[in-house]
Amino acid sequence: MKHLPELHSQFDLSEARIDRGQLVERRLSDLAGCFEDEDSFAKSLAKGNPLIYQVSSQEPGNGLGDMHFGIGMLMPGRIGDEYYLTKGHLHESREAAEVYICLSGTGAMLLEHEQTGDVQLVPMTSHSFVYVPGYTAHRTVNTGIEPLRYIGVYPANAGHDYQTIAKRGFRHRVVATTDGPQLLLRESHS
Ligand code: 6PG
Ligand code: NI
Repeated sequence: MKHLPELHSQFDLSEARIDRGQLVERRLSDLAGCFEDEDSFAKSLAKGNPLIYQVSSQEPGNGLGDMHFGIGMLMPGRIGDEYYLTKGHLHESREAAEVYICLSGTGAMLLEHEQTGDVQLVPMTSHSFVYVPGYTAHRTVNTGIEPLRYIGVYPANAGHDYQTIAKRGFRHRVVATTDGPQLLLRESHS
């Protein structure tokens, strides 16, 4: 009989960790170039290098049809008027979609289609799903005052392409205004 990987895993919601998970931590310094207001970024970094988000993920197999999954936690905060965010990426296998399950906190998923440029800001609120279609750059932002926690599930062959985003950046950003979170074009793109 084929040996099966361990099929049951517990996760800790408050710590956002999964049993046997690989942990990736991103601190403010890892997000250089992601925020529009570089002066505010430099000033914040001079005061400290806090954890902005972490992802604890499992990769049980890498065969055709396998799935990977992880639990993420994105802290609340801002650089200037721009909310804390994840680096964001396209999947290396562009066709790979992803399902996010929002567990706690308040935020949004910034989606930009690589070819058409179509943009959507999809709410991330607890007890909701967000479907991320293939060919779409995705970045999570925390627009609330508590950590935003979510689970992501994606094909094992999805892969992460950070290079394209690092070169071109997202065309939009999510900022705090007196009317609440707003989607704006980045200055470099307007
Ligand atoms: C994935 C998911 C998700 C994502 C985290 C951190 O494909 O693995 O989209 O787990 O990795 O939200 O975001 P970054 O990978 O963009 O840093
Ligand atoms: Ni992804």
